[in-house]
Amino acid sequence: MTGRPTPIIAVDGPAGAGKGTVARRLAAQFGYAYLDTGLLYRAVGMKVLLQGGDPSSADDATPAAQQLKAADLDRDGLRSDEAAVAASRVAAIPAVRAALLDFQRAFAASPPDGSAGAVLDGRDIGTVICPDADLKIFLTASLDVRVARRLEELRQRGLPAIHTEVLHDMQERDRRDATRSVAPLAAAKDAFVIDTSNLDRDAVFDRVLGLAGGIPGGGSEKDDR
Ligand code: DC
Repeated sequence: MTGRPTPIIAVDGPAGAGKGTVARRLAAQFGYAYLDTGLLYRAVGMKVLLQGGDPSSADDATPAAQQLKAADLDRDGLRSDEAAVAASRVAAIPAVRAALLDFQRAFAASPPDGSAGAVLDGRDIGTVICPDADLKIFLTASLDVRVARRLEELRQRGLPAIHTEVLHDMQERDRRDATRSVAPLAAAKDAFVIDTSNLDRDAVFDRVLGLAGGIPGGGSEKDDR
């Protein structure tokens, strides 16, 4: 613990590793504000597509990121695979990442609604956005398991769930997110890495809660990290 007034928990990892579920539950449990940073990139990607632009083009994506509005985050379709692919493309552009940096850091430093702390999930929270986070979790899972989870999610939402397409999109996204030159997907050196392939949601959450013991609101005030 650093003694900073607002504790920060970073949850990073690839798509389908279970970040969102854990991050949301942590925020609810501790009374912290939650920021899904992937939504920012999805909103930029969709904005570019709706404007008829190319998500891989810095000329198209940079102004979309610089002019991102709250209403862009409420758009339908941000959870679609089309938005995910566009997000991964805009996310590889350094100027897009730079445009979204301050918002994410400000959210973490001064969480909205007077929340006592913040939980951010994404790909670079522990490495770039909040390198001083009080707790860093990196969730991972095998590609097969992540694809199966995504297919199940699509089916539950009544959307087309085609195995080869989901597999292809996820492989492409993993490759792009992990190999881009700026803020690639990576576990911070001081992150706790949890492979969720063989764990259900409750088991993952229990493990993370065990690691969060020293965080204000996170149970015992153990301070030995
Ligand atoms: O977490 P998600 O699936 O909603 O993220 C969509 C894409 O956005 C992901 O493929 C890469 C990008 N992203 C990123 O580069 N950095 C983040 N902190 C969050 C998401």
